[in-house]
Amino acid sequence: MTLTLVQAWGRAKARLEASGIPGPVIDARLLVEAAAEATRVDIVTDPYRALTPAQEATLDDYLSRREHREPVSHILGRKGFWKIMLNVTPDVLTPRPDTETVVEYVLRDFPEHAPWSILDLGVGSGAILLALLAERPAARGLGVDVSEEALAVARDNAAALGLASRVALLRGDWTTGLHDATFDLVVSNPPYIASHVIETLEPEVRDHEPRIALEGGADGLDHYRILAPEILRVLKPGGRFAVEIGYDQKVAVEDLFRVAGAEGVRTLRDLSDRDRVVAGTKKALETGG
Ligand SMILES: C[S@@+](CC[C@H](N)C(=O)[O-])C[C@H]1O[C@@H](n2cnc3c(N)ncnc32)[C@H](O)[C@@H]1O
Repeated sequence: MTLTLVQAWGRAKARLEASGIPGPVIDARLLVEAAAEATRVDIVTDPYRALTPAQEATLDDYLSRREHREPVSHILGRKGFWKIMLNVTPDVLTPRPDTETVVEYVLRDFPEHAPWSILDLGVGSGAILLALLAERPAARGLGVDVSEEALAVARDNAAALGLASRVALLRGDWTTGLHDATFDLVVSNPPYIASHVIETLEPEVRDHEPRIALEGGADGLDHYRILAPEILRVLKPGGRFAVEIGYDQKVAVEDLFRVAGAEGVRTLRDLSDRDRVVAGTKKALETGG
C-alpha cells in the first residue's frame, strides 16, 4: 500500500508512541521528512504526496532504529545547532540546545568585526567554535580534543561550513599541547556527568554517545579542576571565558574559577531556567597613570 506524507507521519507517530519513545511527534516528523526527502512545509502544503517504495523502506528502517533508542541525530547523521547544521557521528556528543547558552552569552560582548582568537577545549563536532566563527567573520579559532575521531568530524564540519581557513584543530589532553599560546576567548563544554549517574541516563545517551564526552569523575567536577587554572593561564589579560556546567554545579565551578584568579565570575541560566554556563574574565593588565 502506498503511503502519503500525512499518512506516513501519522503511522510513524503511532509506532514510536507505542514503543514508548519520548517526543514521538517531532521524531516522527524528522524521520518522515528525511526518508521522503520532504520539507516541514511539504507535509502541510503537499500532504497527499505519495512516498515511493524505496522511501517507505527507508522510513521503516529509520523507525526500527529509533525504536531501538538510536538517537535521531545518529540516524540522520546531522543535527542543527544555533544557526548551523552539523554532521554528527557516534564519535561525537550530539550538540544540545543547552549549549547554545554558551554561544548566545559570548556573542553579546563580541564585537562583530573583532579579530579575536578563540580556543574551544573539547571541541567535539565543532558546535560551539563553528557557531561562533560563523557569526564573527574576523575571528579565528583553535579546537582541541583528545579524540582523533571527534576531530575528524569537526574538520568535516568546518569544511562544509566554509570555515576551514579560520579553524585549526589539535589533538591533545586539554591545554597540554598549547605551550605559551594565549587567546582572547576560551570556551568549553567538558564532560561533567558524575560516573555513577551515567548508568541512569536515557539509552540514547548511555548507549550511543561517547563515554569520553560524558564522564566527569566521581562528582562530575574532575575536568573543571584541571580546566579552571589552565583556562586562566592560556587567556590573554582581559580575556573572557565561558564554560558549560551541569545544572547543580554552579557553586563548585564558580569557586574553582575564583580560586584560579578569575574576575567577574557569574553563572548564566539556560532556556529551561537552569544554571548552565559559568563565565568570567582574566584580570586586565594595569595601565599606568
Ligand atoms: C561534552 S563533549 C562537548 C563537545 C562539543 N564541544 C559540544 O559542546 O557539543 C566533551 C568533549 O571533550 C572531549 N574531551 C574529553 N576529555 C578530554 C581531554 N582530556 N582533553 C581534551 N578533550 C577532551 C571529548 O572527546 C568531547 O569531544
